[in-house]
Amino acid sequence: MTNPTGPGPLRLGIAGLGTVGTGVVKIIQRQAARLTARTGRDIVITAVGARSRDKDRGVRLGEYEWENDPVALATRDDVDVFVELVGGDTGPALEATRAALKAGKDVVTANKAMLAHHGQELAELAESKGSVLRFEAAVAGGIPVVKALTEGLAGNEMSRVMGVMNGTCNYILTRMESGGIGYNAVFAEAADLGYLEADPNLDVGGIDAGHKLALLAAIAFGTRVDFDNVTLEGIQRISIDDITQAADMGYRIKLLGVAQMTARGLEQRMTPCLVPTASPLGQLEGGTNMVVLEGDSVGQTVLRGAGAGMGPTASAVLSDVIDIARGTRLSTFGQPAHTLTVAKPANAPTPAPFYLRIRLQDKPGALAKIATVLGDAGISIDRMRQYDHKDSSAPVLIVTHKTTRDALDVALAGMAGTGVLVGDPVALRIEEV
Ligand code: HSE
Repeated sequence: MTNPTGPGPLRLGIAGLGTVGTGVVKIIQRQAARLTARTGRDIVITAVGARSRDKDRGVRLGEYEWENDPVALATRDDVDVFVELVGGDTGPALEATRAALKAGKDVVTANKAMLAHHGQELAELAESKGSVLRFEAAVAGGIPVVKALTEGLAGNEMSRVMGVMNGTCNYILTRMESGGIGYNAVFAEAADLGYLEADPNLDVGGIDAGHKLALLAAIAFGTRVDFDNVTLEGIQRISIDDITQAADMGYRIKLLGVAQMTARGLEQRMTPCLVPTASPLGQLEGGTNMVVLEGDSVGQTVLRGAGAGMGPTASAVLSDVIDIARGTRLSTFGQPAHTLTVAKPANAPTPAPFYLRIRLQDKPGALAKIATVLGDAGISIDRMRQYDHKDSSAPVLIVTHKTTRDALDVALAGMAGTGVLVGDPVALRIEEV
């Protein structure tokens, strides 16, 4: 029991009893004594709500008040912290979060989409009311990356934040490689396993991971969340040939998020990239997430762990709740919301080496024409490999030295005019990690 002279219990209202909400209830029931010992006060649930009351969720809920309406739940007098696990960037999640903050409640959310679109407004609202709005569970599931950036690395000028932040995409890409299976078959497998969001494009289109990157960039660079300027490209067009042939050149393909502050402005990309197989990112298997944080004093820090699932995501929600119970009142994005600056979006990505996969007709001078086009665009070839001819054409892989995307686009247009290509070239950025 709480010390009678200390603060009273911290009372939670939890909206959304899906995988994460159920996980939070389970932890609070199972770890009640430990949570009290660690925070000096009881953490109790007073009310819960979800779309369906009757569903068997495998957890005791009868002892809590039930609220069908998330706004009513968020504003109850006996709720100190509104735990928003409804999801969706607008609708009930946003309405209830706004209502909770306006009522002076603290809010803990796992909702990356809502914060990617409304983070600045909600952070300012929280601050105007002296409330706390925290979102550890919104980024990389159980990995405490928000905490790492906001607290552990707060003394650094961050230069780059990058990572694999969508477990479903990493599962699909690594399963394609290990099974030698094409994208469509592995996508169907992921759907059967329940790995995909209700709208799969959130996963495979890079949107979910893009939301997460935009949130981390805001903390890392002290800038307002700018999801609209995240360059997004999904994994739908990655073929098994790309995966096996990139592996042959010593790389693995990842849906990689990179945010970096450059002289050209803030660069935010969530795109398929090649990383060296031997690097920590290259070694990442299955549904696991990895975030790499680079600061001027600390150098490179790598965090790896479960990016989704009941236990890991609920663990992250609890870390925010525990902070509030302890009286730790941090700004949403690590500094007062009105001090976050509007970043100028970078007008071009940082130069990088590229991987090119082309199919060349079997005729004299074909390769020379491609080499000339690259040379004319100022692009130097680092490595090249040609495979056996089949049907009078052969795949050729080229790894370039560092170049700009503009120069590469000039070269790709030039290649199209050579008359020696079969099909379209594939060009993937190689991220230096
Ligand atoms: N669908 C996400 C993933 C988890 O696969 O990582 C929630 O963001």
